[in-house]
Amino acid sequence: MKVQTLILGAGAAGMMCAAHAGPGVLVVDHAKAPGEKIRISGGGRCNFTNLDIRFERFLGQNPHFHKSALSRYTQWDFIEMVSRHGIAWHEKTLGQLFCDESARDIIGMLRAEMGRAELWLRTELRDLRHDGAFIATLEREGERTEVHADRLVVATGGKSIPKMGATGLAYDIARQFGHAVTETRPALVPFTFPDKRFAALAGVSARATVRAGDAAFDEGMLFTHRGLSGPAILQASSYWREGEAIEIDLVPDTPLADILKDLRRREGKRALASELARHLPQRLVDHLGAELDLSGRLGDLSDARADTLEAALRSWRQVPNGSEGYRTAEVTLGGIDTAGISSKTMMSKTVPGLHFVGEAVDVTGWLGGYNFQWAWSSGWAAGTAI
Ligand code: FDA
Repeated sequence: MKVQTLILGAGAAGMMCAAHAGPGVLVVDHAKAPGEKIRISGGGRCNFTNLDIRFERFLGQNPHFHKSALSRYTQWDFIEMVSRHGIAWHEKTLGQLFCDESARDIIGMLRAEMGRAELWLRTELRDLRHDGAFIATLEREGERTEVHADRLVVATGGKSIPKMGATGLAYDIARQFGHAVTETRPALVPFTFPDKRFAALAGVSARATVRAGDAAFDEGMLFTHRGLSGPAILQASSYWREGEAIEIDLVPDTPLADILKDLRRREGKRALASELARHLPQRLVDHLGAELDLSGRLGDLSDARADTLEAALRSWRQVPNGSEGYRTAEVTLGGIDTAGISSKTMMSKTVPGLHFVGEAVDVTGWLGGYNFQWAWSSGWAAGTAI
């Protein structure tokens, strides 16, 4: 069988590419439905983009690579498509856009935009060769088909959530064709800690500024049975490396020492721990009492102790022993080395007709719609170049 373009992966980037790649497109996926990650994303409402897409909110070895696609197919272009399909959406927080109804609306929209592109599900790639054309042996329902394609688009994503069908296929294909793959690691992922340190706090949430490497995120943080999660932690995980501490400001924007000093005169009999529980969840105060001296009354507090206490809460250092890994990571950091790919067409610089798009490539966005925008923009860049 002969097609013009074979797209491996019917996820966000693969479908977006198919929607723009012209006639003669076959999209294949081993899953039983297209866009499974879209379906479960954003709690079922899909955080499909962000109003405030900024280049510096993407990580990768080349900090400029993503700029071309993101500036030619922007969040406004995707919002226009969503609105054209009558899908109602809203901004939740920090520019993050979600569907009012269901993430399935985004999948339906992309299927409609794909027009006459053919979609084969439950299909495995058994062999791939390049001999003038790309020759893929595909297996569907026990039957093998040899597909000859002028163009091959690799859109099989990263390694996050293997249970949902994530595989390292994109990296294997890249290496097969002589492309380098940078170190990959789970990102946007909760941290774990030794000795079930926070088990008693599971379910407690607080606003915090979390620092890892040279990045800081001021958002929600959640204690879990295994460690720490919540948006501020997930964001920080992309910048953290094994063995390093993360630094948590538990009282962002609260001039705690000034407040305590001021209260000394007016409410000297109040217990220090009770006052802290007005700024932090009670269970967290109980936990901190084992590390910091929170005994005594406000009236007995010296200036120095108030200052020391604020400093300790502002830079609460914790060393994770790891992360929850690909089992729960939202994305894979690293991937196919962008040095070997054109940022304009997402095509290999060495193998004409071979394109890589989406999460498989070494471009990783922040939490908040950035990763889908990269999938849309890179899929569009490859699709319109075909
Ligand atoms: P994607 O993973 O979407 O698609 C790859 C496709 O290839 C899949 O359909 C898969 O079945 C197929 N495939 C893989 N291996 C194959 C093989 N060997 N053979 C055949 N087919 C194969 N981002 C965001 O911006 N906003 C959000 O709200 C969320 N929420 C979110 C929640 C959760 C739980 C996760 C895990 C991730 C997110 N993300 C997100 C990240 C986002 O889902 C991700 O960045 C994009 O889906 C990446 O799009 P791709 O098309 O590159 O890969």
